[in-house]
Amino acid sequence: MKVVVTFPIPDVAKQMISEHAALQCWESEESIPVSTLIDWVADADAILTTLTCPIGREVLAHAPQLKVISTVSVGVDHIDVGVAAERDVIVGHTPGVLTNSTADLTLALMLAVGRRIAEGDALIRSGAWSDGWKPNLLLGTDLSGATVGLIGLGPIGRAVATRLKGFGCRVIASNRTMRSLEGVEFVDRETLLSTADIVSLHTALTPQTLGMIGQKELALMKDGAMLINTARGALVDEAALVAEIKSGRLRAGLDVYTEEPLPLTSELRELPGCVLLPHVGSATERTRRAMFELALANLFAGLQGYDLPARLGTT
Ligand code: GLV
Repeated sequence: MKVVVTFPIPDVAKQMISEHAALQCWESEESIPVSTLIDWVADADAILTTLTCPIGREVLAHAPQLKVISTVSVGVDHIDVGVAAERDVIVGHTPGVLTNSTADLTLALMLAVGRRIAEGDALIRSGAWSDGWKPNLLLGTDLSGATVGLIGLGPIGRAVATRLKGFGCRVIASNRTMRSLEGVEFVDRETLLSTADIVSLHTALTPQTLGMIGQKELALMKDGAMLINTARGALVDEAALVAEIKSGRLRAGLDVYTEEPLPLTSELRELPGCVLLPHVGSATERTRRAMFELALANLFAGLQGYDLPARLGTT
């Protein structure tokens, strides 16, 4: 049996995999070239990967023996799951273990944008804070008591809702399937967009959700409202969002982008009305360890023909 790993992993993990299978591991921080991946998967039974490595139709077509793809991520939009299913390749991912960290970061962005945390930090570091407390310095908006609209109410959306209740927020939500959740009012998407002070995205990126927040949806948002995205960049039409932030009508807290890393030419970098993070929703030591352990458990289960602890479609 052979396992292909598309990113550098610790020696201890290599040792564990080597006890079960031959291992071919990409050691560079640069992404593995598709041509190399195609070459490596020719005799692979399993792939251990992350969200920066697309596994599309072409890669899958060159992997006749492949049984399992295990990704160290909850999102699977980098994998062609349709083709994987057609070819009976099982996909494992890492839901659950990153829920709390991602929900925490979502609240951090809401607070950072509302209370202008990054601007305050920059003001001091630049030496421009020269005259002490001022009645109008960096006035922002409260999270306490705000109306927050959650698009998507899976585990992360629900964990965000729980946290927001502690801030005395009114939480409204729209979801593909209506769920009932104490303290959350379900509304349609248009009502949510036009009512919320803060709109936060918690839905997977699929062909159906791609670009779901476009110019029309952004135009429905209230003046001064905030868009928070800790899900996937491509849910939003980034150019339309830039235009709204540039005009000063909307603000944003973003952890994810259409293109990652965010290109140097992106206008988002120049706009004070947004706080930008480099896709770190799950980036705590504890959570990343848990994700890696779950991905390894998925990998080994798949190799040995057992049910995966977190198989896509059952989680
Ligand atoms: C992070 O974005 C993930 O999908 O785990």
